[in-house]
Amino acid sequence: MTTLSYQTRRGQLQTYFDRTAVDAWARLTSDAPVGSIRATVRAGRTAMRNTLLSWLPSDLRGARLLDAGCGTGALAVEVARRGAEVVAIDLSPKLVGLARERAPSDLGQGSIDFRVGDLLDPSLGRYDFVVAMDSLIHYEARDMSRVVTGLAQRTSSSVLFTFAPRTALLGFMHSVGKLFPRGDRAPAIEPVAEPRIVKLLGSEPGLELWQRGRTKRIASGFYISQALELTSL
Ligand SMILES: C[S@@+](CC[C@H](N)C(=O)[O-])C[C@H]1O[C@@H](n2cnc3c(N)ncnc32)[C@H](O)[C@@H]1O
Repeated sequence: MTTLSYQTRRGQLQTYFDRTAVDAWARLTSDAPVGSIRATVRAGRTAMRNTLLSWLPSDLRGARLLDAGCGTGALAVEVARRGAEVVAIDLSPKLVGLARERAPSDLGQGSIDFRVGDLLDPSLGRYDFVVAMDSLIHYEARDMSRVVTGLAQRTSSSVLFTFAPRTALLGFMHSVGKLFPRGDRAPAIEPVAEPRIVKLLGSEPGLELWQRGRTKRIASGFYISQALELTSL
């Protein structure tokens, strides 16, 4: 069962990523030149993707992996190249369309099943691995914790996700951001302090057989995000 706050935010994100931000995302996730601020974000995102990829086995043949909130699909392609059977899902039909166009036709033994929809859709089945890179950062901490738990319950090995770490600076930028009129502004990122998300996860019924693994914060100019690994016992 998802909460009203999750559903409301999901609706805002779908509109934002499918309409307002689609061109900016297409560009940010390509090789096209971008301004200096976006270049820091692009570099940070590359570092984050590489971190998450480094926490997955180099041989993923026979493994089923969910790219939860796949955007334009860069991570899905990398894991498929390692042989994984990937389900790549996103709320935005346009971003999924772009991801489909960009995916190389030859993925060796791997494959990607691109879907439009909610990453929590139970009809997608079970996985060995789940990766949610920057797709849960807009949900409030309790919803993030519930979503991670819901994903873990369908997963046998590990769930990797990122959160926006609540630091003094980010807290400040967040409150300043709230002073601007809504308009085209992105749905707010919901920063959460690491101890809080760890505590929330620790109290989730359903995560008793999971443990916290590696964590890594990436800070590159305007990009600040922290990866957390949960592994099943
Ligand atoms: C910041 S982007 C990151 C995309 C991709 N993971 C990457 O790192 O390039 C967040 C993405 O998560 C997707 N998203 C957010 N909530 C989702 C949900 N409940 N189900 C599926 N996709 C979701 C958005 O549509 C958006 O494309």
